[in-house]
Amino acid sequence: MVQTAEFTDSPVAGATILVVDDSRITQLAVRAPLEREYRVLCAASGEEALALAAGEPRPELILLDVMMPGMDGYEVLRRLRDNPETRDIPVIFITALLEEDEEANGLQLGAVDYLIKPVRASILLARVRNHVELKRNRDLLRGQNRRLEAHVAERTRSLHAALQEQQLLNQRLEEAQRHLLQSEKMAALGQLAAGIAHEINNPVSFVNSNLGSLDTQLRDLLEIVRAGELAAARATDTREYADYQRLKREKEFDYLCDDLFQIVAESKEGIERVRRIVTDLKGFSRASDDAWAWADLHAGIESTLNIVWNELKYKCAVHKHYAADLPRVRCLPSELNQVVMNLLVNAGQAIESQGEITIETTRLDGERVMIRVSDTGQGIPAERLEKIFEPFYTTKPVGQGTGLGLSLAWNIVAKHRGRIEVDSRLGQGTRFTVTLPIDAQPEQAGV
Ligand SMILES: Nc1ncnc2c1ncn2[C@@H]1O[C@H](COP(=O)(O)OP(=O)(O)OP(=O)(O)O)[C@@H](O)[C@H]1O
Ligand SMILES: [Mg+2]
Repeated sequence: MVQTAEFTDSPVAGATILVVDDSRITQLAVRAPLEREYRVLCAASGEEALALAAGEPRPELILLDVMMPGMDGYEVLRRLRDNPETRDIPVIFITALLEEDEEANGLQLGAVDYLIKPVRASILLARVRNHVELKRNRDLLRGQNRRLEAHVAERTRSLHAALQEQQLLNQRLEEAQRHLLQSEKMAALGQLAAGIAHEINNPVSFVNSNLGSLDTQLRDLLEIVRAGELAAARATDTREYADYQRLKREKEFDYLCDDLFQIVAESKEGIERVRRIVTDLKGFSRASDDAWAWADLHAGIESTLNIVWNELKYKCAVHKHYAADLPRVRCLPSELNQVVMNLLVNAGQAIESQGEITIETTRLDGERVMIRVSDTGQGIPAERLEKIFEPFYTTKPVGQGTGLGLSLAWNIVAKHRGRIEVDSRLGQGTRFTVTLPIDAQPEQAGV
């Protein structure tokens, strides 16, 4: 039942109050003074009260009789609290007799106040006004809190997003800086290497050619000695001949003859090694004579595999994952082959007994392709990763590695405006990734 009236100008005037009492007389006694200021709803039973409390207009305060036939006030209060729609409506109990534990029970259940029957109008109005005002303030505060929380959550979210973006930018910046630093270092080392190569080249050339002459001249010399021997053999009974034979024995003439040639051969091999290093150094520092061409990388990889197969075949299973859509790439084909060769040889050397090498090609997008060589070898400790591209950095025994392989590869890839990157896990393996532009313009590549 809804009652309306002309309301006063109190700030809570017009609020909806639900009066629940099975006695019409009490209902009237409570309703009459309230109606001057409030919209009053009346219910005569617990069920009716619950329905009105959850309906519209939603009461802002409930005056609830404790003793009612059927569902009593406590039960109504309990159910009001269980329903999220009605949970926050303040309830004032109205009761004729108030035992102390009854009061405690009601307050525990969440009643905000008690009124004793017969209810005095002035007290009723004052309490109702206070509690409606309290509820409104509470609602206001709750609303503001919710808005504030939403605002804070939104700000936190956007700050978090900004932070993530910042971190990503920082990461990219760091990476770019590292790459730049590496580029500068490699360029400086390239110049140094070119200088050293030039300086070493000359003496190496003449030592090499002298060794060649020495070899022939030694043969000539020995021929003369042997001829002299034959001539001397005619006068075996002379003292000179006996001295000559003794000297030959003392100086181990036959051994000397063999050893001389061995020494020359070894020196030749040594100088050949120096020459190869110098050639590598030159390759590292300067553009070679290779011409730019549109090349099939798969063909290049295959021919390189053929060359290094002997080194790999006993201990490595080689898996190939070639991209079917890999386009031809404008490059210096034989130099790229050299990159692949260095990666494959390194991969093979990193595998101690048995392991796997995987060669993978991928078209990354319209502009770039990728070649990846992975192995299941010994891996590279993190602190060495920065050094491996430096010329002469090697962990291999003397005579086995010059430490030029990766620096050469780095330089060749840089010439193609590409990148070479490494990931490695100690004891598990290493992965080198070469990214190349499909169409690296030679002019831009600085050739
Ligand atoms: N796949 C790999 N697994 C483990 N370590 C590697 C791998 N590739 C390179 N390295 C490490 O990087 C170092 C430098 O490699 P780089 O190819 O430049 O020189 P090298 O192989 O030692 O000698 P070179 O290639 O001149 O014969 C190697 O000595 C090795 O320690
Ligand atoms: Mg190597």
